[in-house]
Amino acid sequence: MTTQVTLSLDGRYYTDPAVFDIEQKGLLARTWQFAGHAATIPNVGDYFTFQLAGENLFCIRDRNHDIQCYYNVCQHRAHQLVDGAGNSKVIVCPYHAWSYGLDGKFMAGPNVNAVEGFDKSSICLTSVKIDIMHGFIFANLDPDAKPMDDWFPGVREELAAHVPHIDRLKPLEFVEVPEQCNWKVSVENYSECYHCSLNHKTFSTGVVKPETYDIQPQGYCLRHTTECQNLDDMTYPIDLDANDYAGVYSSWFLWPMFSFQVYPGNVLNTYHWRAIDADHCMLWRGWYSIDGNESEVMRKLAIQDRETTVEEDIGLVQSVHKGLKSRGYRPGPLVLDPACGVNSEHSIMHLQKWMREAIDG
Ligand code: FES
Ligand SMILES: [Fe+2]
Repeated sequence: MTTQVTLSLDGRYYTDPAVFDIEQKGLLARTWQFAGHAATIPNVGDYFTFQLAGENLFCIRDRNHDIQCYYNVCQHRAHQLVDGAGNSKVIVCPYHAWSYGLDGKFMAGPNVNAVEGFDKSSICLTSVKIDIMHGFIFANLDPDAKPMDDWFPGVREELAAHVPHIDRLKPLEFVEVPEQCNWKVSVENYSECYHCSLNHKTFSTGVVKPETYDIQPQGYCLRHTTECQNLDDMTYPIDLDANDYAGVYSSWFLWPMFSFQVYPGNVLNTYHWRAIDADHCMLWRGWYSIDGNESEVMRKLAIQDRETTVEEDIGLVQSVHKGLKSRGYRPGPLVLDPACGVNSEHSIMHLQKWMREAIDG
């Protein structure tokens, strides 16, 4: 049985700055994107800043110990409020010292009482919607965004089952990987394993069995599943009896730019991307350990992964991005196998459908 021919996306979707502009104002501003981890701001007043869709934002722990997210902009004359990460019980703007509480409400400003009719109660930082999945904070600039459980059905529960200690995890290491390619090239490369056997020897022989690899949509999540290698072939030790999922490799790619991955041994690690411009993106590999304890296995995995799979992928995606700019490129058919499996690009078909929806409306 064969399926109808579906052509890959035109090069301009990846290389045209006008398309990037459409994404920045639309897709990137109305999807759930990773902000940071709740464990990095455990105390009242702890905050970190981050960027999303060209906006500066920050998350801060309020007096009820809840996490709030605000645009990082003063409501007076628009100076940035906070920088980097730190702790502050009151947010004081560095320009003219207007101050705000952790609930975002205006508190005081020099000489504001001289203004007749100055209405303190009407001034407040602009909130950003967040959703926290097992300590992972996601932000969405769309105030009407549906909750993550609607976008990614079942993922919260599946993660809890696959990583029994997930709520105790803290970030151990983030490996930053600049890539000279459009973010969609990198995300597509992540979302198929048609290239794995040829390009990822360590991953294919030391972590997973490529012949069992499959990827299926689950809402706006692409769910990767495969069997792991025989215990003897694994590059690190695992206890298969620890729990039902100890021998499983799984990943949950959350459209458009984040992925939870679980390696055999219930090892959680993450991918997240930020689009910089049409030709550049940043990728971070996140590694986590229980209570943030030092973990030799995790450190070694982070290095092995950076030196093998990630390095191999950088070469691939940068070459593809250059190729997408070539006058000689005419988009080829995706290899869609009705039986799916590792040598099928049905996951790319789903991704490109979401990409078209986002760009063409
Ligand atoms: S811009 Fe913030 S106090 Fe003036
Ligand atoms: Fe790859």
